Amino acid sequence: MTTALRIDGKAKAAEMSEKIAADTAALLEQQGLTPGLAVVIIGEDPASQVYVRNKKKRAESCGFYSVQHSLSEDTSQDDVLQLIDELNRDDRIHGILVQLPLPDHLDEQVITQSISPRKDVDGFHFVNIGKLTSGNTADAFVPCTPAGCMLMIEDQLGEDLSGLSAVVVGRSNIVGKPMASLLLQKNATVTVTHSRTKDLAGVVRQADIVVAAVGRANMVKGDWVKPGAVVIDVGINRIETTVDGETKSKLTGDVDFDSVSAVAKAVTPVPGGVGPMTIVMLMANTLRAARLSVGLDG
Ligand code: GUN
Repeated sequence: MTTALRIDGKAKAAEMSEKIAADTAALLEQQGLTPGLAVVIIGEDPASQVYVRNKKKRAESCGFYSVQHSLSEDTSQDDVLQLIDELNRDDRIHGILVQLPLPDHLDEQVITQSISPRKDVDGFHFVNIGKLTSGNTADAFVPCTPAGCMLMIEDQLGEDLSGLSAVVVGRSNIVGKPMASLLLQKNATVTVTHSRTKDLAGVVRQADIVVAAVGRANMVKGDWVKPGAVVIDVGINRIETTVDGETKSKLTGDVDFDSVSAVAKAVTPVPGGVGPMTIVMLMANTLRAARLSVGLDG
């Protein structure tokens, strides 16, 4: 039995982060410009608090100007929109991210569309979605998670995915749909599957590249995977396990790592795979936004 390569997203993200820090220092020296990232978090969702803390830490380690706006759960939509308006006009800020999910009374679409497309480092604005789906990526911002997945896929299979079939499990706006666009742009033959797909296992089994982004712990099993496939696990699920009679909570992906490792060519672990890459792609997008703001190449 072969064992798949365990793709080390943490190491790749650390390497990329060093390069971003060096480019940031050069930008300061040559242009007197420091990339600025504003992260807005509304409410107390514990997972979001952890993600936002990690984003802030990483921004600081890259040498960015980093601000965090923590708003209470009951903040009104008008107050959120006013803050975004101020950030859109603030020259020190090049990237704005509003952490999702939002409390129920806030309109996610209105809020994400109020961010200037030039500061939309999440790539959620319709202008950036349109640029990505039409293949005009020169100055588009691509959502961070699929962008990070794509780099890991290219490390394994090269930049041109001609002749390879890719199956994306999940059709979210944050991951599934932009992931499909990116794979298509690199010439993969792409299938997007979801909860209504018939014979999901059979469809996944055809794929040379599998991207799992559904939020169901350990759903993709080894017998769903074609031998030699590259498997990218976007899921972050918290599950309870019992070790020596003690109940513990642990993070697990959408992919059953052990059984998939026995058949795949390469697979990302959770944690330590896609997660760190998502954060570093946010830094890459913010540096890019800063460079584009002064007319440099992104
Ligand atoms: N919540 C989970 N993933 C993301 C993301 O990529 N961006 C934002 N803004 N919120 C998220």
